[in-house]
Amino acid sequence: MDMDKKIDLNDLFLGTNSKVNVVEGKKIRAINFDNAATAPLLKSVVESVIGLSDYYGSIGRGVGHKAEITTRLYYESKNYIMDFFNIKDKDKYTVIYVNNTTDGINRLSRTFCKKKDDIVLLTRMEHHSNDLPWRRRWNVDYIEVDEQGRLKFDDIENKLISHKGKVRYITVTGASNVTGYINDIHGIARIAHKYGAKIVVDGAQLIPHAKVDIMGKSDEERIDFLIFSGHKVYAPLGCGVIIGLREDFNKSLPDNEGGGTVKFVMDNNVEYLDTPEKDEAGTPNFFGAIAISTALSELNKIGFENIRKNEIKLRDRMFDGLKSIPEVINYGDIENREDRLGIGVFNIKSIYHEDVAETLAKYYGISVRQGWFCAHPYCRRLMHISEKSASAFIHDDNERMPGMVRISFGIYNEENEIDYFLECIERIIKKSK
Ligand code: ALA
Repeated sequence: MDMDKKIDLNDLFLGTNSKVNVVEGKKIRAINFDNAATAPLLKSVVESVIGLSDYYGSIGRGVGHKAEITTRLYYESKNYIMDFFNIKDKDKYTVIYVNNTTDGINRLSRTFCKKKDDIVLLTRMEHHSNDLPWRRRWNVDYIEVDEQGRLKFDDIENKLISHKGKVRYITVTGASNVTGYINDIHGIARIAHKYGAKIVVDGAQLIPHAKVDIMGKSDEERIDFLIFSGHKVYAPLGCGVIIGLREDFNKSLPDNEGGGTVKFVMDNNVEYLDTPEKDEAGTPNFFGAIAISTALSELNKIGFENIRKNEIKLRDRMFDGLKSIPEVINYGDIENREDRLGIGVFNIKSIYHEDVAETLAKYYGISVRQGWFCAHPYCRRLMHISEKSASAFIHDDNERMPGMVRISFGIYNEENEIDYFLECIERIIKKSK
C-alpha cells in the first residue's frame, strides 16, 4: 500500500472507534494503547472467516466437498506462512498450529529431546512464557541485561564457551514486551550455531511489527524455531504458530497424544506419523489457521516499511512527550531509541502505577497495561529493585508490588491520540498536587 496516498489504517480494524462510558456518565471514543497484550481484529480477517463458514468441514479425516476444501485451505495456510517467512527449503521446516505463544513454547520444552546435562540458555529479558517452561524441565542459564535493559551481547558467547558445548538451545525474545527493544536475532543465531546450539525465537511481540526472514543472510543466520500468536497480529485469540526444524520434532514422541497423529495403532504399540501431523493431536483449529494467515497477508499488503514508519512517528512523539514532563520516570533508553518498538514503560513520581492506569481508563477512556507484564525478573532489573524488596508484598500486607505503566501501539494508532494521552498525564499530575 502506498501510505503517501493516506489510507486510513484505522478503517481496516474492528472496534477502533468504539465509545466507552467514563465517569460522570460521559461516553467517549476509547483509545487502545494496550496492543502488546491483545490487538484489535482486522476486518478482512473476520470477513475471511465468515466467508468460509459455508465450506467448513473436517480436516484430513472425512471425504466430501467441505472436508476437501477445509483440508486444502488448512494446508495452504501453512504453505503461505512458510512463504511469508521466506522459508526456501520447505522439507526442512514444519508449521504446527498451537493455541498461542505460551502453548507453543511449552510444547517445545516438552518435545525437544534432552540429555541429562543439556542446557537451555535464556535471557533476563524474557516474558515468563519463555522462561518458566524451560526452568521446569531443563538446566537453564541466563544472559544478563545491562542498566538500560538491553541484552549483554558479549555474555552470549562467554556463556557458550563456559558451558563447553552443552547448550542445546538459546531461546530469546524477538522484541521485549516491556521495553520494545528489538534483539538482533540473526546475530544471536550466528553465535549459537558457531557453538553447536540452535536458536528459538519468541516472536510474540516482534511479528506484528517487523518482517522476519527465517533464512537470514546465510545458513549461520537462520532461525531454527519461531513461535508467535494470532491475537497479537490482529487475528482472534486461540491460535498460534510454531515454525521449526522438522528433525527436532521427528526425533521425539509427540507431547500431546490422540487422533490424527498415527499411521497405525496396534494393541500394544503405536506407529506415529511424521511432523506436523504427529504434533497436532485432535481436529485442528481451521478458523484460527485461516485467521492468522489472512492477518499476515494483510500486514504484507499494508507493508512492513509503512508499519515501521508509522510506529517510529508514534514512538518518538510518546518518548519526547513523556521526557518533557518532570514528574515522569521513564524506563529503558529513550534517547537512543532506534532499536525500540512503539512500547514505553513509565511511572509518575509518587502515584502508584495501578492508580495511574485506573484513572487513564476510567476518566479518559485510555487502555494501558500496568504491573510487571509477566516479566518480573526483567522489570525488577529495569527498576533497579532488589528481589527482597520487590517480593516483600507476598508476606507483608502493608507492602505493595512495584510496577510500571505500559503503553503499546498498534498500526492503527494516531498521533492525536498520543497528544490526548500526554494531556491526560499532565491532568493526573495536576490533580494529585
Ligand atoms: N504478553 C502480553 C503482554 O505483554 C500478554 O501484555
